[in-house]
Amino acid sequence: MRHDLLSKLDIRYPIIQAPMAGVSTPALAAAVSNAGGLGSIAVGTVNAQQARAAIATVREKTDRPFNVNVFTHAPAHSDPAREAAWLDWLRPHFARFGAEPPAALSEIYRSFLADEAMFQLLLEERPAVVSFHFGLPPQAWIDALKAAGIVLFTTATSLDEAVRIEAAGIDVIVAQGIEAGGHRGMFDPAQPDPALPTFELLEQLLDKVSLPLVAAGGIMDGRQIRTAFYHGASAVQMGSAFIACPESSAPPHHRALIAQGEGLRTELSAVISGRPARGIVNKLFSEIGAEGHPPLPDYPITYDAAKALHAAASSKGNQDYSVNWGGTNFAQARALPAGELVATLAAEMNEAA
Ligand SMILES: Cc1cc2nc3c(=O)[nH]c(=O)nc-3n(C[C@H](O)[C@H](O)[C@H](O)COP(=O)(O)O)c2cc1C
Repeated sequence: MRHDLLSKLDIRYPIIQAPMAGVSTPALAAAVSNAGGLGSIAVGTVNAQQARAAIATVREKTDRPFNVNVFTHAPAHSDPAREAAWLDWLRPHFARFGAEPPAALSEIYRSFLADEAMFQLLLEERPAVVSFHFGLPPQAWIDALKAAGIVLFTTATSLDEAVRIEAAGIDVIVAQGIEAGGHRGMFDPAQPDPALPTFELLEQLLDKVSLPLVAAGGIMDGRQIRTAFYHGASAVQMGSAFIACPESSAPPHHRALIAQGEGLRTELSAVISGRPARGIVNKLFSEIGAEGHPPLPDYPITYDAAKALHAAASSKGNQDYSVNWGGTNFAQARALPAGELVATLAAEMNEAA
């Protein structure tokens, strides 16, 4: 299966650099693809025009295959009363920096499900791979993208999601464990979360679905890549491992926390964006998410508030409200150029037998 996937994707190593909205860049994706892995860009938070420009930039830097990732969450519904209550809850935090909360919140980016222009763009640009996070798009879009020769990936966090992905005719399942940094790709955050660690999720899916599985969550080195293969993965998708690469757009504070590592830990919380996501714990987690907080606005409307609060704080030189997504093993990230990191991982993977 592993060799089939490598030839299907036309890549040398079963190493996928995770799409990371706000952190991965065309330069990062191209460096990974040039080194024999599969680079990814995340266009979930930008419009079709910006996605077109990002794809063109990758293509200027590589002629190797790469992945374009979109967010397929249920489109947000605005609820002005809920949003006003949330802003009120945040008011004392803004006040620390002599600021007022914004007058209102907005849906800061659109779901792929409501973005026909992005669908048309993907059909025209035909990247080698398109990946979906947070659910499945309409069947007609899946069929059209496949007919255009694009290999389709979708994230699953449970057996139920994996079965639905397979039934929809997707090519590859990204099995995302609870250790993973960033947003949990669960289809419906209102449903109970089995919260399975990556290798347990692989074991659960292995006998029940026949699609190739890509392991995501907590994988930082070649030995862990081998372990993922042992548990049935055909490839791995690594996010946190690539944040510290010079080609990422991670801000200096995020890099400093990774370098520090010691004494820091991650948690999953929905209070930052409106959907569960894992990041390095700071006041966003501990205070905004304190017990008794009001109901959250829809994803990503909630995120607008966190970004405004971070802007107010950082304008006064305070980073207590910065968003630093990362998996449980984030501190093992190596600040190597991405091509060198891929070569190192491949060498470790082969020697760890
Ligand atoms: C900073 C960051 C941003 C992320 N953004 C996205 C994204 O835009 N799309 C996506 O499908 N996954 C995203 N993820 C999740 C990754 O695809 C992957 O599941 C995760 O990084 C794996 O866990 P690891 O960080 O322990 O390697 C993100 C992860 C991180 C760390």
